[in-house]
Amino acid sequence: MANKDKIKVGSLYKMKDMFIIVAECSRCGEPFLSDEVLTVCTKCGGALLFRYDLAAVAEKVSKSALEKREDTFWKFVELLPLSSSESIVSLGEPYTPVLRFSGTALKNVYVKDDGRLPTGTFKARGVAVAVSKLRELGVKRVAVPSAGNAAAALAAYGAKAGMEVYAFMPKDVPESNLKECVYLGAKVYLVDGLINHAAEIVRRLRGKFGWFDFSTNKQPYRFEGYKAMAFEIAEQFSWDLPDYIFFPTGGGEGVIGLWKGFKELIELGWTRKLPRLIVVQSSGCAPLVKAYKKGASEVKETWKDAETIAPGLRVPHPYASYLILRAIKETKGMAVAVDDEEIVSSMKTFFKSGLYACPEAASTLAALNKLEKKDEGLFDPDEKILLYLTGDAMKYLYVMMIERNKISVLRKDAISLS
Ligand SMILES: Cc1ncc(COP(=O)(O)O)c(C=O)c1O
Ligand SMILES: [Zn+2]
Repeated sequence: MANKDKIKVGSLYKMKDMFIIVAECSRCGEPFLSDEVLTVCTKCGGALLFRYDLAAVAEKVSKSALEKREDTFWKFVELLPLSSSESIVSLGEPYTPVLRFSGTALKNVYVKDDGRLPTGTFKARGVAVAVSKLRELGVKRVAVPSAGNAAAALAAYGAKAGMEVYAFMPKDVPESNLKECVYLGAKVYLVDGLINHAAEIVRRLRGKFGWFDFSTNKQPYRFEGYKAMAFEIAEQFSWDLPDYIFFPTGGGEGVIGLWKGFKELIELGWTRKLPRLIVVQSSGCAPLVKAYKKGASEVKETWKDAETIAPGLRVPHPYASYLILRAIKETKGMAVAVDDEEIVSSMKTFFKSGLYACPEAASTLAALNKLEKKDEGLFDPDEKILLYLTGDAMKYLYVMMIERNKISVLRKDAISLS
C-alpha cells in the first residue's frame, strides 16, 4: 500500500478511506498497525480488536441513510476493516430473517435464522469478512482448525477468492462438513483428536508451510464479520434491541462479535442498551459455564472427555476465553449448560414450527426452557428474547436418523395409502 494512502494517527498510521484507527490487544492494550497481516498480540498472545473512529463514521453516515442501502451484511461497510468495497468477496449474504417464535410460554420470543447463509451457518459472516480482508492484504494460503462449519465456510469463500485452504478437523467431523470441504476444493486433514489438537498442528506447521493461521480468536478479522449480527438485529428491531440474546458458544467468536458490534452502536449513538448475552454450551463440554460459575476471569483447564451431539460446541479450551467472560459480565449475561437430550427435544420443538434448527442452534431454546423452569418469572413477559439460530439441520443427518424401511413406498399407480 502506498504511503500516500496512509494517514498518521499518533505514532501509528491508518488507511485514508478507512475508519479503523488501530488494532489493539484486548488484554494488554498494545497497539498494532491496522493494515498489516495480524494474528494475536506479539507481547502477550491476547486477541486483537480493531478500534474505529466512530465519531467520523457517524458524521459520514446516518442510521436513515444506512437503512436505504441494500439488506446485505456488507451494508455497514464503514464498520468493516476493508479499504474499499471492491475488496468484498461475496457469495450473496442476505439479511437473515427475524421471526416471532411461539413454541414457549413466553410471549416475546424471536429467532434469527442464519441457516440461510452460504454453507448454511453463521460462520459465513466471520469468514467472508476475514477472507475479503486477507485477500486485500495479499494472503494466498490459509489453514483452519475447525469443528466443521468454519472450515466449510472457509472452503467456499477461499474458492471464490482463489486462496488455498487447508482444513484440519476432528476425525469424527460430520460427513456433510467433510464433503463440503473436499468438494469446495480445500485440502483436508482429519485429526485423531479434537479442535484444540487440530489448532496445535496448525500452530506447529504454519511457519513451515507459509499458512495464515485462520484459527478462531487468533486474528482480528473474523470478529468484524460477526458484528453484522448486531447491526442487523438493531435494524430489524427498529433500533430497540432485544433484552436477551441466547447464543450457542464453543470458541466464542460469535458472542465476542455481537458484543463488539453492540458497543459500537451505542458509541455511535444509534442504540441505547447492551442486550444481555446468554452463552449456551453443552453439558458435555462446558468450560465457559464452569469458569462463569466460579466467577473466574478465564478458562484455566481444558475440559476433559468433551462429547456432545453439537460439534460446534465441542471446544474444550477456547482461545481468549477471558474476552467471552468479559462480554458476559459487561452485558450482565450468563452462561448456561444444557444436556444433549434437551437439545434434541428443542430441535423437535423448532421443527414443529417449521424451523430446521441444528443442534447448536436448538441449544438456545433448551437453555431458555431450563432457566424458565428453574426460576419461573426470571424473564419479564414484556422483555424481548432472541434465540440465535446459528445453522441449518440439513448437515446433521446423524442426529435424527430415519428408518427408511418404516416409511411406506407406494406403487406408481397407487390409489390408496396402504
Ligand atoms: C452451527 C454452529 N453454532 C454455533 C457455533 C459456536 O460458535 P462460536 O465459535 O462463535 O462459539 C458453531 C461453531 O462451530 C457452529 O458451527
Ligand atoms: Zn497483549
